[in-house]
Amino acid sequence: MRWLRRRGRCLAALTTVVLALPLSDTASQAATAPPPAAPSALVPQPVSHLPLGGGGFTLTPRTRIVVLSQKPAEVGIGTYLATVLAPATGHTLPVVTASRAQRQAVVLDPDGPEKLGAEGYTLSSDKDGVVVRAHGAEGLFRGVQTLRQLLPAAVESPTRQPGPWTVSPVRISDAPRYAYRGVMLDVARRFYPVSQVKRYIDQAAAYKINTLHLHLTDDQGWRIAIDAIPELTTVGASTQSGFTHGSGWYYSAADYKEIVAYAQSRFMTVVPELDGPGHTRAALASVPGLNCDDKAKPPYSGFDVGISLYCLEDERHTTNTTRFLRTVITAVAKLTPGPYVHLGGDETPQATPSEYAAYVEAATSTTTARQKTVMGWHQLGQAAIPAGSLMQYWGQEGDRESIDTADETETIGFVRSGVAQGATFVMSPSDHAYLDMKYDASTPYGLSWSGYVPVRKSYEWDPAKATAKPDGTGSIVPAGRIAGVEAALWADRAYEDSNALPTPTTRWPEPHVYAEYMSFPRLPAIAEVGWTPQSARDWEDFRRRLARQGPRWTAAGIGYHPAPGIPWPDLAKALEGAHSIETGGKSPAASRPAGLPPLLPTRVSGTTANRPCMTRSKPCVIRRP
Ligand code: ACM
Repeated sequence: MRWLRRRGRCLAALTTVVLALPLSDTASQAATAPPPAAPSALVPQPVSHLPLGGGGFTLTPRTRIVVLSQKPAEVGIGTYLATVLAPATGHTLPVVTASRAQRQAVVLDPDGPEKLGAEGYTLSSDKDGVVVRAHGAEGLFRGVQTLRQLLPAAVESPTRQPGPWTVSPVRISDAPRYAYRGVMLDVARRFYPVSQVKRYIDQAAAYKINTLHLHLTDDQGWRIAIDAIPELTTVGASTQSGFTHGSGWYYSAADYKEIVAYAQSRFMTVVPELDGPGHTRAALASVPGLNCDDKAKPPYSGFDVGISLYCLEDERHTTNTTRFLRTVITAVAKLTPGPYVHLGGDETPQATPSEYAAYVEAATSTTTARQKTVMGWHQLGQAAIPAGSLMQYWGQEGDRESIDTADETETIGFVRSGVAQGATFVMSPSDHAYLDMKYDASTPYGLSWSGYVPVRKSYEWDPAKATAKPDGTGSIVPAGRIAGVEAALWADRAYEDSNALPTPTTRWPEPHVYAEYMSFPRLPAIAEVGWTPQSARDWEDFRRRLARQGPRWTAAGIGYHPAPGIPWPDLAKALEGAHSIETGGKSPAASRPAGLPPLLPTRVSGTTANRPCMTRSKPCVIRRP
């Protein structure tokens, strides 16, 4: 290992930030020959990764985490690493600040060259120690995620494990392909308590996901408290898909701030989505003046799509809607430090072009007035949007096939219009990046209107060709306008036997159980799509690396789906294991406070068919609510 030489600085005394050596376990593993380390198998695959021969560095209770900085944000990465390592190793590694690197330590150096960029890092490990270098705290955080994967899988366990804790010897140099690598949680159809959102943030951050998109509003629920309109939560949050008469199914301002702060501590930006002008039944149930007849609709707990629209038919109602949007967008923008507010815009077949345009004008002008960048589903591109808006593409194979034919789909038209207006794009093609699509016919949850999405399909796509013809040519979104990728976990059908509507005996997992089963292993696949250069990605290689993640998830208690075609070393454990809705999650009925009416299915409606036409850019006859 080449040790870092730092010229021009005096040899400052070590400052102990945390010094808590365990009293027991004093055997110095460093003095003995280091055990051989397992070869590394990383996800996402780094840009350059050289496994070395020889022994690796073994963490002992006396190993220091040495941060070459006094800045709290950078020292905080050392504290984070110590916290992550503590439960399984049983070591409370001391975090110290220093002005130069040391041997037999984990060194975190945030003073690496600027050319590493915000998220790039290098990592060197051998028997003498580990050095992670970056240009600032964020790059160190990404490098620390790699370091975790260089340790044995058991390091992810929440309880003490035997070790030894040997870091595989490697030289890594790494930086992301795309700056935006997101995941979306549909907290509207199924409400995730704050603790479960935080759990998911940690799981996603481990794969270098840096954006959490919260789909906060939909027909089945409004999930963010707005002081000026309490009905949005007293009424609009009282339902979920399949659940009625709830209370507390929303984030207070304090809850939301807690999520945002937690995400920030994992270098993840929160993007709040307030969907409109469709997907708005929860708002229509809460605010009478948003309806053309000025009467509040009943709250909705069913499974249909395309059932709602803000009233934009006449001037008075357009003014009502505009005022409403101003209030809610302003409130959410104030709570959101990140640059984006997502305005939805999807699935509004009942909106006339002028109604749709009125929504987009009202919502985008308020958003830009609050110094936020407009984000929206690709449909938003059909109307006038501010240059520099970020569109989220969720088309599929049929759209790509239609490019440059006489039957180009509406979706492709909207994307063309967004591009012409100067938008950039996040790629979430539904046939690759929608995590609510079933893996195959045996998947208990989710839908399949965009086909099955087995792991290979979630991995084998190129964002640069997501809006290109099937032969990869003619991309509508130019390469320079692709900001990145996002996996989207909808919760339309987050229950067992989801090909049909639920019945009173249907089993509903806790949201995190559903999320983990549908996300693992596909979220790591999409994380690699967004991080690793296309030329360094290969399914056969990925499949073997992915398999080695399985024991990490088992150790962490993540109920992943041991999908076929991946050589999982812990298959038996995974099958018996964490994914069981009896043990991994409680049914909502069982977990409800006494005295509340039954949850299911007092007002279930919907079709058992998969969404038939909303997603295919074909005209769709849906009655106004
Ligand atoms: C969507 O799937 N309706 C964005």
